Amino acid sequence: MEQSSSPAGSGGHGEPGSFAGKLAVVTGGGSGMGRELVRQLAAQDCSVATCDWHPDTVAETAALARADALPGALVTSHACDVSDEAQVLRFRDELLDQHGSDHVDLVFANAGIGGGASFVRDSRQEWERTFAIDWWGVYYCARAFLPLLIASGDGVLVNTSSVNGFWAALGPGMPNTAYSTAKFAVRGFTEALIEDLRSHAPQVRVAVVLPGHVGTNILANSLRARGLPDPEQMSDAQAEELIPPDARSALTRAGLLPEGPSADDLRRMLARVNADFRDKAPLSAADAATIILDGVRSGAWRILVGEDAKMIDGAVRAKPESAYDYAELFSELAPATPEP
Ligand SMILES: NC(=O)c1ccc[n+]([C@@H]2O[C@H](COP(=O)([O-])OP(=O)(O)OC[C@H]3O[C@@H](n4cnc5c(N)ncnc54)[C@H](O)[C@@H]3O)[C@@H](O)[C@H]2O)c1
Repeated sequence: MEQSSSPAGSGGHGEPGSFAGKLAVVTGGGSGMGRELVRQLAAQDCSVATCDWHPDTVAETAALARADALPGALVTSHACDVSDEAQVLRFRDELLDQHGSDHVDLVFANAGIGGGASFVRDSRQEWERTFAIDWWGVYYCARAFLPLLIASGDGVLVNTSSVNGFWAALGPGMPNTAYSTAKFAVRGFTEALIEDLRSHAPQVRVAVVLPGHVGTNILANSLRARGLPDPEQMSDAQAEELIPPDARSALTRAGLLPEGPSADDLRRMLARVNADFRDKAPLSAADAATIILDGVRSGAWRILVGEDAKMIDGAVRAKPESAYDYAELFSELAPATPEP
């Protein structure tokens, strides 16, 4: 699945396929996969400039990364909201200055949030905020950094989409409209760049990252992005607004809430869902980062992260008309009926 330019590192310093001596940009480095990408790159002697809209968390990432970094790797952290183009341009200028560089070798457009699940029910503001971060954030980074990747002579642009970049739902009763719309755009844009770069900038290649369920704090971080505190600290009104009555009934039927749930029940359920998403995932953020870096190193343009992502990808390709008929889509996964 290689494109025309070489695997990471083969035109630069270090061993072929290595990140040593390179300069990487990682957005959303304050948590989850972004944090682990920064740590693993620095441990492989790659300099990293990482940003987040929470300067405290990304500074913590930089400190963690420096602790394990090889001596050649400089790690800097920056405050930047990727949905604001002026901030992305400031981040670019700041990092070039601090790294004394006129190019970057790798860009991981990783920052993202969930939200705007329902186009029907959720606020327009929340929908557009999610779309702005998950799509425009990736677009602004490509605009800002492509000339610097071209200047590298051996650049790689790595855009994070999702299984929701090829399957636009999460299952029964769980629409995911703003996120899926943005993640489809990220995948489409990245795939469209393959031929564009081959034709007009063959010294740069792209990769699209398609993770399944990875254990991170994305649920809590996405609530924070909407100005909400952690579930345990939510007021009754905040918890009740977040889980409206129709959603409560569905959650009661699913066994996640008791009949006629109190605000305490809602807070407890939210906290449990957040913790389970992070702690009971099939893949950790560190393992996901390793898969992403291995994929980039190998020259792959399509990096499926996790067995669940591979399974959904296979199912949607095999039965595209059944993509939203969940029982049919996943029928092969149903437990076999025991022989009489
Ligand atoms: N965790 C999963 O299961 C999963 C699955 C598929 C795709 N993804 C995608 O992977 C990427 C990383 O997600 P994660 O699970 O590590 O989440 P995370 O919440 O742990 O990390 C995302 C980071 O991005 C930052 N961020 C959010 N909005 C930002 C903005 N406007 N500007 C700058 N930084 C911003 C957050 O503060 C956070 O530090 C996201 O694009 C996400 O959509 C995650």
